[in-house]
Amino acid sequence: MKKIRVFETFAGYGGASFGLKKAGIDHKVIGFSEFDKYADIIFTKNHPNIKNYWDITKIDTKDLPDFDLFTGGFPCQPFSTAGSGLGEMDIRGTLFYEIIRICKDKQPQNILLENVKGIMMGKHKETFRKIISSLEEIGYQVHYKLMNSKEYGIPQNRERVWIYATKKERDLMWKFEVPKIKLKKYFKDFLETTPDQSLYLREDQIDRLIELHKVDLNVKEPCCLDIYNKKVRTDGICITLTEPHHNSLRVVEPPKKGKFVVRKLSALEHFRLMGFKDNEIDFAELSYAQLCKRAGNGWDVNVAGKIFNKIYEK
Ligand SMILES: C[S@@+](CC[C@H](N)C(=O)[O-])C[C@H]1O[C@@H](n2cnc3c(N)ncnc32)[C@H](O)[C@@H]1O
Repeated sequence: MKKIRVFETFAGYGGASFGLKKAGIDHKVIGFSEFDKYADIIFTKNHPNIKNYWDITKIDTKDLPDFDLFTGGFPCQPFSTAGSGLGEMDIRGTLFYEIIRICKDKQPQNILLENVKGIMMGKHKETFRKIISSLEEIGYQVHYKLMNSKEYGIPQNRERVWIYATKKERDLMWKFEVPKIKLKKYFKDFLETTPDQSLYLREDQIDRLIELHKVDLNVKEPCCLDIYNKKVRTDGICITLTEPHHNSLRVVEPPKKGKFVVRKLSALEHFRLMGFKDNEIDFAELSYAQLCKRAGNGWDVNVAGKIFNKIYEK
């Protein structure tokens, strides 16, 4: 198979590039589009010598080399319960028109898009239908699939819809099916053995947490605390990682010397829960907050790898 030329948009840390690497697919990223300064830093550190075309709305397709695969995890805040929820009323909710514009002109063989489950539901259903029909109108056969990270090897409840569009000559019998696997490792297995002391909450902060959320922190093994739903998860699954300002997730460890122990999730743990092996990604000296933001917005690279395997299977 010849080297696949990729254009990675809304690139973040490069979830598509990492997924292709995981799937062992011979590829070359011919360019990426990412307008956040810190995302550009971490992308470039991990995938050097690739041109950033920055703001997608400003790209003139005449300036783009040809490519075979277009990828884009377009902004999810407009369709997310944790975000604005304003859909196309939020300017970020209209960015898929840019995807359509670029793919209409460049006609890559394959397109892979990702967004939150919310885009398929309730008031956003019409936008979702529009995305599918626009891709069909510009010459693609479209498949989509809702996938939850916890069903593919990573103990995180992360539901994302993956939209795969391919030129119409592809076999019509093809089905977007990726085998589910039973989890072998759970939340506690993804935690560091000696987390940094700065992650731990003070006693008065823990008291306040109990007072506000009425949670029982008396656990026997490390668990995920879901602050939003006011409960400790005992099923070994982590809630959806989001940007850190949502403040919805903590780790509860078994009490020590009669005192409850609660801490934040480390940056390394965030990335493990996004499908990364330790040292697979260079953190490019970004701050804790920036790293957690990137992880909360990123692609689960384990799931992405499995999807690329499916797309490029013989
Ligand atoms: C949901 S995140 C995608 C993350 C990525 N898939 C990854 O694996 O890390 C959306 C990204 O799109 C970027 N973005 C938003 N609007 C953009 C625009 N107009 N042009 C380029 N990038 C944009 C954001 O900075 C953010 O990093």
